[in-house]
Amino acid sequence: MANPSILILAGDGIGPEVMGEVKKIITWYGDKRGLSFDVSEDLVGGCAYDAHGTPLTDATMAKAQEVDAVLLGAVGGPKYDKLDFSVKPERGLLRLRKEMDLYANLRPAQCFDALADFSSLKKDVVAGLDIMIVRELTSGVYFGEPRGIHKEGNERVGINTQRYTESEIARVARSAFELARKRNNKVCSMEKANVMESGILWRDVVQEIHDAEYPDVELSHMYADAGAMQLTRWPKQFDVIVTDNLFGDLLSDLAAMLTGSLGMLPSASLGAPMANGRPKALYEPVHGSAPDIAGQGKANPIACILSFAMALRYSFSELAEADRLEKAVEKVLADGLRTADLMGPDGGTPVSTSDMGDAIIAALDASL
Ligand code: IPM
Ligand code: MG
Repeated sequence: MANPSILILAGDGIGPEVMGEVKKIITWYGDKRGLSFDVSEDLVGGCAYDAHGTPLTDATMAKAQEVDAVLLGAVGGPKYDKLDFSVKPERGLLRLRKEMDLYANLRPAQCFDALADFSSLKKDVVAGLDIMIVRELTSGVYFGEPRGIHKEGNERVGINTQRYTESEIARVARSAFELARKRNNKVCSMEKANVMESGILWRDVVQEIHDAEYPDVELSHMYADAGAMQLTRWPKQFDVIVTDNLFGDLLSDLAAMLTGSLGMLPSASLGAPMANGRPKALYEPVHGSAPDIAGQGKANPIACILSFAMALRYSFSELAEADRLEKAVEKVLADGLRTADLMGPDGGTPVSTSDMGDAIIAALDASL
């Protein structure tokens, strides 16, 4: 059988540096675990604009549709701030999400024991935290029509549209319920049914799917603003949170910061199964391109490495190997290795991006 295929789109800023460490880990799996991948690489974001005048070429888009998994680093940077909206680096990422129809965005917020002191919240509020935000990723106000800026009389009007169909809500709700069954069997759905019709529909459909297909899962509903408040008050009350594209964008940043370390958090964006049974999938760290530290060996590669662990889990069904990689990350943190973003209350041993990757590989070796 052919090796599973991976397309690497390292992107801009620290993207290429953190992806460099993932490449070492991919090589390790081939050498030491007989898990070989056919890896190809291409451009996305500002670097694609520099090379081709577009943040994502049709050829790259076509490749992304064919591979078993896409690994993305990060896109954007100040150099591209003045570009026309239609060719901004982010448009490349949004096109990938939309055209691959990656409707379920999984954003775990997990607090590593070694880093429980890093949160801005009290240690007992975050220690042991392990929640999963499932964000709808291909619809809602990000893509709804009409949209645009037009003139009405003497002034400009900006319009975006929040639009959800029943089937769009139903499929992401199913993703959340399926995940909950493998975790602590609890889903909280967040919307603004008190002010938005799309929120009323969201609440109804999630409840219907629950009652018809997942009555064994504990379901609650919360207004998204109250959800934000509860996430900071006592986040451990949640297991899986399912929410729309925009609320999910906000709430996942909030949840990420609870853990005290944005440089640690991975994500998976999943779509429908392909002919080979694997879901359409793109994996990326939650953090951005961090142009201020790019090229200095300061970036934390862990979010990108854990994104590859999610690929092992969700695309390649290598659950034991995903666990192995996650344990290796826990081990180096417990040993006190700290990239610049993690230099906090406990001191620790400062390491560079590549030192961190090498240490994780040494921990993988030790796990054999
Ligand atoms: C994210 C980011 C993106 C989003 C941007 C870069 C388009 O904030 O992945 O959360 O808004 O979805
Ligand atoms: Mg965001």
